[in-house]
Amino acid sequence: MSDWEGVRLHVVTGKGGTGKTTVAAALALALAGDGHKILLVEVEERQGLAHLFDVGPLDYTERRIASAPGGGEVHGLAVDAREAMHEYLAIFYRLGRAARALDKVGFVEFATTIAPGLRDVLLTGKTYEATRRKDPQGEFQYDAVVLDAPPTGRVTRFLDVNTSVSSLARVGPIHRQATAITSLLHSPRTAVHVVTLLEDMPVQETVDTIEELRQARIPVGAVVINQVRQPHLDDVHQQAARAGELDPELIRAGLSAAALPDSAAIVERLRVEAAEHAERLDAERAARASLGALDRPTYNLPRLPEGVDPTAVYELAEMLREQGAA
Ligand SMILES: Nc1ncnc2c1ncn2[C@@H]1O[C@H](COP(=O)(O)OP(=O)(O)O)[C@@H](O)[C@H]1O
Ligand SMILES: [Mg+2]
Repeated sequence: MSDWEGVRLHVVTGKGGTGKTTVAAALALALAGDGHKILLVEVEERQGLAHLFDVGPLDYTERRIASAPGGGEVHGLAVDAREAMHEYLAIFYRLGRAARALDKVGFVEFATTIAPGLRDVLLTGKTYEATRRKDPQGEFQYDAVVLDAPPTGRVTRFLDVNTSVSSLARVGPIHRQATAITSLLHSPRTAVHVVTLLEDMPVQETVDTIEELRQARIPVGAVVINQVRQPHLDDVHQQAARAGELDPELIRAGLSAAALPDSAAIVERLRVEAAEHAERLDAERAARASLGALDRPTYNLPRLPEGVDPTAVYELAEMLREQGAA
């Protein structure tokens, strides 16, 4: 049984560079596992998803970008504020082609510049619409939507659309749209997952962001620890390494058994490296303790030595499934 039964919108955030886009893609594939149809949305116009799945650039038209084992599908969409605005004006104000004419005189730039929150409403609005869209048979078109969201520093504000537009629209379609989005984002149908590394800065940002989300009453999903490295020392040797007490004779014997140079200088250098490694393991343990205190489902993904290509995304997806993410 998945940790996220009933969740229709998965928002993935994290400090930039921790693997937000990679994890969003892997999560979408994991969720697609049981023959499900999942929409993976990108809002920052970087084409990170297209690159990961090795497909052509994504745009405002949803299309299939990957197939999951068991018949599932991942569809991709890059939401662009301008296109969302056209669609919005066409639907709510019946402007149709006139919306494009407005754009020619710089309307979209104008509107989103005077009201930055409007841009976020447009971006989240499209995502919101996809979570509830039904097909002609009355079934949801997507079993879930995964959003590759802005990084931790901006995500709470991005999701807190009601606050950002309430000053700009107290009534009317923008207000109604913001209210509808807010009710989804504050409901158990949403989960915001935070990607981190076992390093001080991203862990601190994870702790801060989860606190912010909780204050904003937006449901916090999982903590995803990405790029986890295998420890090279067990507990006993870690303690010895930290204290500078690793037996040089053992190191020398190991080197010669592997037919490697085993001079005293090399042995000494390895003792220093082992001490540094032991320190890093201590720091990682402290990081895990801070993350554990957040009391959220936690998934671990290894650092892949070859980096991330489309095949690797499938492997990461399988690991997420094994850990209960889907
Ligand atoms: N588990 C992993 N193992 C190895 N490299 C990874 C892993 N996760 C992400 N990366 C690499 O780290 C870099 C940043 O990942 P990305 O998903 O683009 O992060 P973000 O969206 O947070 O900026 C990319 O080069 C990506 O291939
Ligand atoms: Mg990214």
